[in-house]
Amino acid sequence: MFTRDMLKGRVAFITGGAGGIGLEIASTYGRLGASVVLASRNQERLDAALATLAAEGISAMALRTDVRYYDEVKSAIDTTVERLGALDILVNNAAGNFYCPTADLTPNGWRTVIDIDLNGTFYGCHAAYEHLKRSSFGGSIISVITMLGVSGWPGAAHAGAAKAGILSLSRSLAVEWGPDNIRVNTISPGPIGDTEGVRRLYQETGREELERKKTALGRFGRKADVANAAAYLASDLASYVTGDNMIVDGGRWLKYVAA
Ligand code: HXC
Repeated sequence: MFTRDMLKGRVAFITGGAGGIGLEIASTYGRLGASVVLASRNQERLDAALATLAAEGISAMALRTDVRYYDEVKSAIDTTVERLGALDILVNNAAGNFYCPTADLTPNGWRTVIDIDLNGTFYGCHAAYEHLKRSSFGGSIISVITMLGVSGWPGAAHAGAAKAGILSLSRSLAVEWGPDNIRVNTISPGPIGDTEGVRRLYQETGREELERKKTALGRFGRKADVANAAAYLASDLASYVTGDNMIVDGGRWLKYVAA
């Protein structure tokens, strides 16, 4: 079942892979035997991520990609297949976000987040489809969302709408692409410590303690908690799991509030 090489021979393409949860997923996949490709906007961060992985003994590839542009996503995915011979796993992890009351949000602010989160995920799925179809392991798409997309996200309506869109897109694709042996799932992390999202949305706004208390477990998660879920969903252990939204949020979506 859970073996050290359970992703051996697989090629994984991870957007937003240069840092945070994306890099943690890359590291976990690499340790489990996968070849990993990091796609991100910032070359310096990509270089630093490759060095981090190299220090762990993981050889990875980095491709500078802005997920807002379909041509860039397609070119990076096609290059991955040209160089590594296949594509088996797509992780749509890239995201952009900021708090802003909806009445103050400009159309460009709305569009920017929808472009990165929702459109970027669609571009990844669309560009990867033909390759995933040919995967000898069966293709696996994993998109990182949040249960705030389900509940609504006051103050970040653009991101909530984008994440809800990704959930619906993933369920549609799970049915459309099931016959092609492509599984399509989402992961909904809660607040994960030591990430840009939590730092900007919760720590810099003085909401850290409140957000911690909203979880049933009374603590923020670790990046590894999300990466472990992503490893499971990418592996044969989840071979009959598609259209699922795996919640990794310490019970936050239950709206638990400590007494
Ligand atoms: C109001 C803002 C704003 C803010 C940007 N805008 N920040 N409006 N409040 N704080 C508006 C700008 O005014 C502009 O609209 C439009 O958004 C585009 O802004 P740019 O700065 O030109 O865009 P860009 O440089 O491409 O930056 C994209 C970004 C940025 C999304 C705005 O924040 C970014 O790159 N973030 C990536 C990293 C990130 O957010 N990581 C965290 C993801 S965590 P106008 O009309 O003025 O032109 C996550 C999950 C969190 O998503 C879950 C927590 C539990």
